[in-house]
Amino acid sequence: MPKYKIAVIPGDGIGKEVVPAALDVLHTIGEVHGNLSFEFTEFPWNCDYYITHGKMLPDDGIETLKGFDGIFLGAIGNPKLVPDHISLWGLLLKIRRSFEQSINLRPAKYFKGLRSPLSNPNDFNLVVVRENSEGEYSEIGGRIHKNEDEIAVQNAVFTRKKSEQAIRYAFELAKNRHGHVTSATKSNGIFHSMPFWDSIFNDIKENYPDIKTSSTHIDALSAFLVTQPEKSDVIVASNLFGDILTDIGGAIMGSIGIAPAANINLTGEYPSMFEPVHGSAPDIYGKGIANPIGQIWTAKMMLDHFGQRELGQQLLDVIEDVTGDNIKTSDIGGKATTKEVTSEICKRLKAL
Ligand code: NAI
Ligand code: MG
Repeated sequence: MPKYKIAVIPGDGIGKEVVPAALDVLHTIGEVHGNLSFEFTEFPWNCDYYITHGKMLPDDGIETLKGFDGIFLGAIGNPKLVPDHISLWGLLLKIRRSFEQSINLRPAKYFKGLRSPLSNPNDFNLVVVRENSEGEYSEIGGRIHKNEDEIAVQNAVFTRKKSEQAIRYAFELAKNRHGHVTSATKSNGIFHSMPFWDSIFNDIKENYPDIKTSSTHIDALSAFLVTQPEKSDVIVASNLFGDILTDIGGAIMGSIGIAPAANINLTGEYPSMFEPVHGSAPDIYGKGIANPIGQIWTAKMMLDHFGQRELGQQLLDVIEDVTGDNIKTSDIGGKATTKEVTSEICKRLKAL
């Protein structure tokens, strides 16, 4: 019977409300399923920890996390106590870099009971696979000269290895979805890196004869996510393109409170990290009204990552039943509390 060892970092603000909610749901899944279980180990690493210890996590923190199957994180940030760049770099980015989590995965779909800003969302259901370690976000470059002669050079870095990994991951993902991969490109405008990306995409697609593909320029693709989001299944994109597309994906769903994300270590050498898109929401912390769905859907992504896709799908269906029946927190137009939404999800899981 599989037992998953999970490191839990609730973090700051509403992380401390939505993480316990998602753990309740995972416990319930373990109970109902009977043939799998979770062992959660909680770590108190957050801005309060920083105030006491002068660091976001202990010196052996990264070493400690190595032993887990996954890291389940709420949100980090309490700008009243600690400047954001210290808390984010000190914990989140440290984990992402140390554990070579070079893919960022963000699904977006039309959600029952939510109002998408699109007049015709057409039941869209897509996922963006974003290369998350290089590309346009590189530190290579510099500035020279002063005043009107000043020049800035910013280099994008595309390695065959990281591009191949991202693209291959997208194809593998498409096998269990609707069998279509779109490559976000811009080879008509970006002279070196995008033709390189295209050629790698074309090589890899030869190995997946059953997967349909398209290559679409990023500007047109961004527009398509608004005008016909239902045409996309899996989209693979470089760091910058993926960043932009995932924000559009979140926006067309209708609330940041439901959007999940995963940072994937592709080699399996280190744990992957699962965290919702939203932050610690200090403006609503303590009121018991935080939407737990972003965190719970993130738990679904962790189940998928462990190969428990059927359970993951079941969970997502139950979440949508609940929002569809109008049991929702106020950010998405309802009156329910964090606890009420969570216990309704658990109740329906038990009734399956
Ligand atoms: P935020 O995502 O925390 O909040 C933005 C707005 O969305 C707020 O009005 C908030 O109330 C609402 N919101 C967010 N999640 C919600 C939920 N689950 N239910 C209901 N409403 C929700 O972003 P903000 O305010 O810019 O940042 C607050 C803190 O969080 C900062 O310290 C920031 O650095 C940090 N942050 C951390 C992230 C992470 O840990 N990955 C990501 C984004 C921000
Ligand atoms: Mg962004």
